[in-house]
Parts: sequence; structure tokens; C-alpha cells
Amino acid sequence: MTIGASPHGPGILVIEPMGNAGRFLLEAADRLGLRVYAATHQDVHDGYPDRLRSALAGVCATDLTDTPRALADMETFCRQHAIAGVAACFELFTPLAALLADRVGLPGNDPRLARAARNKVLMGEAFAAAGIPAPRWTVVRDAAEAHRAVRSAGLGRTLVVKPAEQGGSWGVSVVDAGGGVHAAEDGVPDQLASAVAAARQYAYAQPHGLKLDTRALVQEYIPGEEYSCDTVIADGVAYPLPVVRKDTTEGRYRIETGHSCPSGLPPSLARKVQHTAARAALAVGVRHGIAHTEVKIPPGTETPYVIETGARLPGDNLCEVVEAATGVSEAVAYLQAVLGRVPDTVPSVTGAAAIRFLLPARGGVLRQVSIPETPGTHSELHLRPGDSVPEPADSACRIGHVVARAETADRARGLADRVAARSRVEVS
Ligand SMILES: Nc1ncnc2c1ncn2[C@@H]1O[C@H](COP(=O)(O)OP(=O)(O)OP(=O)(O)O)[C@@H](O)[C@H]1O
Ligand SMILES: [Mg+2]
Repeated sequence: MTIGASPHGPGILVIEPMGNAGRFLLEAADRLGLRVYAATHQDVHDGYPDRLRSALAGVCATDLTDTPRALADMETFCRQHAIAGVAACFELFTPLAALLADRVGLPGNDPRLARAARNKVLMGEAFAAAGIPAPRWTVVRDAAEAHRAVRSAGLGRTLVVKPAEQGGSWGVSVVDAGGGVHAAEDGVPDQLASAVAAARQYAYAQPHGLKLDTRALVQEYIPGEEYSCDTVIADGVAYPLPVVRKDTTEGRYRIETGHSCPSGLPPSLARKVQHTAARAALAVGVRHGIAHTEVKIPPGTETPYVIETGARLPGDNLCEVVEAATGVSEAVAYLQAVLGRVPDTVPSVTGAAAIRFLLPARGGVLRQVSIPETPGTHSELHLRPGDSVPEPADSACRIGHVVARAETADRARGLADRVAARSRVEVS
């Protein structure tokens, strides 16, 4: 598809369109006949791929890490270019989008709650205030605090330690409190201390250099299958999107291995997930926009526990997976919501799709990679031979992915798995 800047339609300002969902947002804007402008840093814009740069009608070059300056620059830009809607693509800038929309009088999210969609401490408070089932948690600044908290907070034996602000599973560890709490006495490696250090390692988010909250959360571990569900919200009204099953690695690092849609949940439980996701989105102030919510359902229960929500389109090519399975374009619906229109979330096809990520067994240098071409699938490489491959501790280690379409989710997942199994990945 050729994406061209449409000269006549309403203008949308996207705060940092770089990243996985950006391409879907640009395609959607093209379908809706919208002009798309980017708000970003000059040096980040200089590094945009040609495909992204050429699709833009213009750029508001500013410093997104300096909120007063960014708001002033973007406000002037919005007025000069008759901007009709503000969208965010990068999770860490979703609060900025809410503040800008409020300032220029465009449809947006509640600016008073907006940081709760980015910061997991505020998010936990918002979920508790709204009575939304979520893991119990405590916030810590170092290992000693974590040990004390674990002894007193009764969070259970298996714990999740994660950064207050980050994404892509960066710095998230699942640890056994039994192996580490009494480390000083019994010589067992202090898993909790290393997990807290991992969660606190990110002081700034690149490429913008945004300062992050370096506190860590220690959470109760929620067992069970994991799902995600996106919710478009227009004028405070929730329009649930399909539930997607999420597969991850086991063990200390939970990295997505794939997603599939439909979820395979019985319809009544899928509706519960949609309802819970909508409540989570509203709890963090989403009013005109979209939220991506992740839940786990403990075995033997029908209660979705919310792991997190973000006021943004999903990553991981989920826009493609959901559209292939249902015909619904999440990005179109999101843009409609930020323009104050009724979002089109009615499924038009009954199909299934799955994505499977190619992950390395360990870090190193990518020597060879090939994914066989297979009917019903298409694939993409994220890394090339010669590139360094990070340790498989977060989603940065992905080498590529396969998307498969079929009549049922099981078949789509099976097809994507078979292609992944026949792929050749050599890391040394
Ligand atoms: N309390 C928890 N109980 C069980 N599993 C959890 C919990 N918190 C996180 N996880 C697992 O770790 C994964 C990553 O955690 P989380 O979503 O909080 O971090 P993130 O960096 O925002 O992730 P991403 O951007 O990859 O979705 C979750 O998808 C889930 O599989
Ligand atoms: Mg997550």
C-alpha cells in the first residue's frame, strides 16, 4: 500500500509515530483521508525510515522530555495547522497527549489521571480505587526495602518485580521469594535483590532521553493463562475489541512468544475480559482514545486480573492480527475516537490469525536466519546476519516474526508454530 500525505483531510498530530503501531496508524490515517503530522525530536526524526518520513504532512520538532516547552510548541503547531485530533503512539508520551488535547480543546483523555496510564504505581492506585481485580503490590527503592516488604506484605512465594515505568517486559522478573529472602543467612543467591536491580536499571527511556521513575514494584504473581483486550473509548463510552490470547516464555523472564485471535475463551468469559479491560481503561482516565489491557485468569476462576493497561494502540503487530481475524482496524477506530467520531468496531469477517515471534536461545551475534515462505503466512525479520542479539530477557531479543491466517485460531497458531520450527536461526 502506498501511503501519501492527503492534503485536504483533517489534520492529526501524532506524538511520536515511531514504533510498531505507527505504521498501522499511518495506514489508517490514509484510509480516513487524514493529514498526519508528527511531534518528535529533530534527531529522532532524522533517523525515521523513509516510509515513515514520506507519509508525514509535516513535523513539529520539539523536546518531548520538557513538558512545558513541548506543550507550548505543540499548541502553536496545532493552531497553525488546524489540527483536529491528537494521538499518542509511544506509551511514555500518552500523558503528554492528554495534556495537549486538554490545552487546545480537542477530544482527549482525562489529564488528571493521564500519568496512571504510564506509571505502574499510579496505575495500581487507580485500579484499587476503582475496585478492579489486579495483583497486590508494594513499591520499593532497594533490595533491603524489598526484603522487608516481602516479609510483611504477604505477597506470596512467587513474586514479580518490575520497573514503575517501562515496557516490552524490560526489567521484569518472576522470582521465588523462598530462594532469596534469607539469602544472607543461607547463602542462596538473592534473586530478589538482582530482580530489584534489574527493574531499577532504566533511568532514561531512549531514543528521547525521557527521565523515568526508577522505583520498582514487587507484585503478587497471578497464575493462569494470559490475554489482552483493547478498548476504544469515545466520549467516555467503551467499545470493546476482540480478546487475544497471549503466549509467553516461562521462568524468570516472561517474553511474548506469540498472540492469537480469537482467544478461544468461552463467549461469557471473553465478555468478562472485555468488561474488565474497559473498566481498567476508564480507571486510568481514557475518555477519547484506545487502551491496551493485559489480564491473567487464575485456573479454576472466571476472574480476569489486570496486569496492566496503556492508553495506546497495541504493539507486537496486534493491529494486524486483530484486523486479519475480525476485519476491525484498531488504528482506524482510535483515530475516529480522537476526532470525536463514533469508532467503527463492528467485526466484518469471521477468521483467525496468529503471530509467532522468533526468539534466540541466548544472546550473541546473528550468523544466519531464514524463515520458509509458506502459504497462508508472511514473515518479517527484525534483525539481519551480523546484528547483535540481546540475551532473551525482554522483547528486544526478537529476531523476526511469522503471521498466519486460518479458519480457526488453533490452526493459525499451529501454522505459525510450524513455520517458526522450520526457521533457521543461528546465534553464536
Ligand atoms: N503480577 C503478575 N503476575 C503474573 N505475571 C505477571 C505479573 N506481572 C507481569 N507478569 C508477566 O510479565 C509480563 C510483562 O509484565 P508487564 O506487562 O507488567 O510489563 P511490560 O514491560 O509493560 O510488558 P509488555 O510491554 O511486554 O506488555 C506480563 O505480560 C506477564 O506475562
Ligand atoms: Mg505488558
